[in-house]
Amino acid sequence: MVAKRKELNIGLVGYGFMGRTHSNAFLQAPHFFDLPYQPVLKALCARNPDRAKSFAENWGYQSVESDWRALVDRKDVDLIDIASPNDTHLEIAVAAAKAGKMVMCEKPLGRTAAEAKQMVDAVDKAKVPNMVWYNYRRVPAVVLLKSLLDEGKFGRIFHYRSQFLQDWTISTDLPQGGEGLWRLDVSVAGSGVTGDLLAHNIDMAIYLNGAITEVTAMTETFIKERKHNLTGKVQPVGIDDASAFLCRFDNGSMALFEATRYARGHKALFTLEINGEKASAAWDLHDLHRLEYFDHRDESRLRGWKSVHITDGDHPYMKNWWVPGLQIGYEHTFIHQVADFLIAVGGGKSVAPSFRDGLATDYVTDAVLASAKTKQWVKVPH
Ligand SMILES: NC(=O)c1ccc[n+]([C@@H]2O[C@H](COP(=O)([O-])OP(=O)(O)OC[C@H]3O[C@@H](n4cnc5c(N)ncnc54)[C@H](O)[C@@H]3O)[C@@H](O)[C@H]2O)c1
Repeated sequence: MVAKRKELNIGLVGYGFMGRTHSNAFLQAPHFFDLPYQPVLKALCARNPDRAKSFAENWGYQSVESDWRALVDRKDVDLIDIASPNDTHLEIAVAAAKAGKMVMCEKPLGRTAAEAKQMVDAVDKAKVPNMVWYNYRRVPAVVLLKSLLDEGKFGRIFHYRSQFLQDWTISTDLPQGGEGLWRLDVSVAGSGVTGDLLAHNIDMAIYLNGAITEVTAMTETFIKERKHNLTGKVQPVGIDDASAFLCRFDNGSMALFEATRYARGHKALFTLEINGEKASAAWDLHDLHRLEYFDHRDESRLRGWKSVHITDGDHPYMKNWWVPGLQIGYEHTFIHQVADFLIAVGGGKSVAPSFRDGLATDYVTDAVLASAKTKQWVKVPH
């Protein structure tokens, strides 16, 4: 029999794409991981009552709120999970921390580093557990790569390169703003692909390769005006459609990053490669279970890239799933994140990526945008 776990009441804000991945993760994590807490889907907050009710019924939320303030005020909610657009993160997170709740927040933490800093200060002051949903850190192949790097298998690191390519905003007829298209409205999103896509590449790079010290960047807005869904007027587009930067890491390596929503044919091509003195590795979200690995210490006659299928019981997280050789997918990264968070909280520990880690990425995205504007190298604060 499973020992009775302490219940942890979740209050979720937002029932969109991420609202679904998080709800699924809270439900699945206790089935597959030995957790100190049993997440309870206590309340869902969203502004459209009919749609909120039907989402709550589908996922098993016990109640519905239409204002996040009412959710934060509830005594029967322990953890506020923010899965709403970027312009809502600051206010909700700060209020949740002040109310003494644990806070999980979607990325990017703030629209700017200044916003993210206020969020870090709030959780530090309230001493509440916190985490940012940079879920790709919890792909088993990525965690394995991190262990190999920590073990020194790569030696000195020379290069890091990473891309995130999509193609869904190429049409000039696509409006900006409102439901489903808030990412094109700079006042809501904060920036374009820099905060939306490159933030993932940057968080992963900091996790794997350490701090980024300085950047030089360029951005482009290919379509300068779009109709705004909320005003009905054609308005200037304030987001970056594409963003690329060069940078230096604290460990002396140099790097290339690129993200765009104008790479026809690519839907979510998130890739990375790292080249060290002794070994190289590459990873691709479209084939997330494989780690491509090259080891220069192999016998020269047999030296070559290996494509390792990360599905064995001794690979990160995999013993909790099926049998060796069988894959897991995108949604499992969120399940891993919930499991790691609850285990850490149960042990009185913090877990990365914390709000402070989210701020580190926002410092880099701010520097990228500043460099693109000034056409100068920009140092990244730490
Ligand atoms: N970790 C990832 O890989 C990943 C992927 C997608 C999105 N995100 C992030 O998740 C967040 C949400 O993105 P999404 O794709 O789920 O968006 P979405 O548009 O699919 O859903 C947003 C939800 O928030 C609700 N909402 C908006 N304002 C609200 C308010 N004031 N109060 C309550 N609810 C409100 C909307 O009604 C909707 O239900 C963003 O910060 C985004 O950057 C992260």
